[in-house]
Amino acid sequence: MTAIEVKKDVYWVGAVDWNVRDFHGYSTERGTTYNAYLIKDEKVALVDTVKHDFKSDLVHNIRQLMDPADIDYIIVNHVELDHSGSLPMMVDLIKPEKIFCTANGKRAMISHFHREDWPFEVVKTGDEICLGSQTVRFIETKMLHWPDSMFSYLVEEKLLFSSDAFGQHLASSQRFDDQLPLDELLSSAAKYYANILLVFSPLVQKLLAQVKEMGLDIEMIAPDHGPIWRSDPGLIVSSYERWSRQETVNKVLVVYDTMWKSTEKMAKSICAGLENEGVEVRLMSARICHRSDIMAEMLDAKAIIVGSATLNNNIMPRIADILTYVKGLRPLGRIGASFGSFGWSGEAVRQLDGYLEDIGVDVVAEGLRIKNVPDHDGYKKCVELGAAVGRAVIESK
Ligand code: FEO
Repeated sequence: MTAIEVKKDVYWVGAVDWNVRDFHGYSTERGTTYNAYLIKDEKVALVDTVKHDFKSDLVHNIRQLMDPADIDYIIVNHVELDHSGSLPMMVDLIKPEKIFCTANGKRAMISHFHREDWPFEVVKTGDEICLGSQTVRFIETKMLHWPDSMFSYLVEEKLLFSSDAFGQHLASSQRFDDQLPLDELLSSAAKYYANILLVFSPLVQKLLAQVKEMGLDIEMIAPDHGPIWRSDPGLIVSSYERWSRQETVNKVLVVYDTMWKSTEKMAKSICAGLENEGVEVRLMSARICHRSDIMAEMLDAKAIIVGSATLNNNIMPRIADILTYVKGLRPLGRIGASFGSFGWSGEAVRQLDGYLEDIGVDVVAEGLRIKNVPDHDGYKKCVELGAAVGRAVIESK
């Protein structure tokens, strides 16, 4: 790993985390990067830092270019600890003249690091600083991803430092989008959007409209995670426009957990009913599929059918985990239904309907309960449930 010039006098100096597999509940099977950037001008600015455990990578990368003590400014676009964990050490090392951040950023840094004596310089949308030959303009992006978040735009180079937005959890020895397969990039960016930003979709739309209104000419987008978008930054922006509108296709997720395979048998028959109606199906066992992969599929799925056996008068715990997670990310405009096998009390299906309604899913068919093991008639009912949801998906378009 080494510092890399991404634009004239602008360097990537971040860290690659090949090993992280769990990012606050999101499965990062490809690891991630914590991107930080150095702008060298009459005044030198460090844009963001890295997670605490990677501070020596950051310092090593900066030292390839200059003595860190000669950095003048630190720009903190986002205070979440994957970007600021090494900040206290870097502030001690650099002794910056100023730390640029939003008002919420200052509050967040004080409540995280308890250092009111740091040289905070609060900025708001439209404020600019001159580094010499280059200008940095700030754009507040509240809740994308935290209340403190902002973008920094390097005017002369048409380079947007976008913090979490337009990022992805993808460790690589490559730093740029055109060095990686496009389908991999887009599916990884979609998973990131579904798991980090979906809940903020209305704000994403507002921000994209605001950026358009400001007439920012963007040649390159440098996020804080994953590759830098240099070949076609418009592609990730248009993907965000689509994802934030929560556009769906005729696709249905059948998500289930099972005790003795009866609920699984039901799930497979429900899939058959969906397929008969010509909709795309994803059968996802809660034992096999991670909640964040289910969420990634949910990004463009019109419907979710959830199944659980009844366990101790409740739904099965993995299903509760998944539905709680989905609820937090607030997918809009979905339809769904529920099903499950039971032995004697059989509360799960009613509870699943409650969960779905809580998420905001429109339950379009009566939940299907089958005692113990489905017989021929039971299988038929499962196929009918799948077909009913399939038809509702097609009619909803
Ligand atoms: Fe990559 Fe919201 O932190």
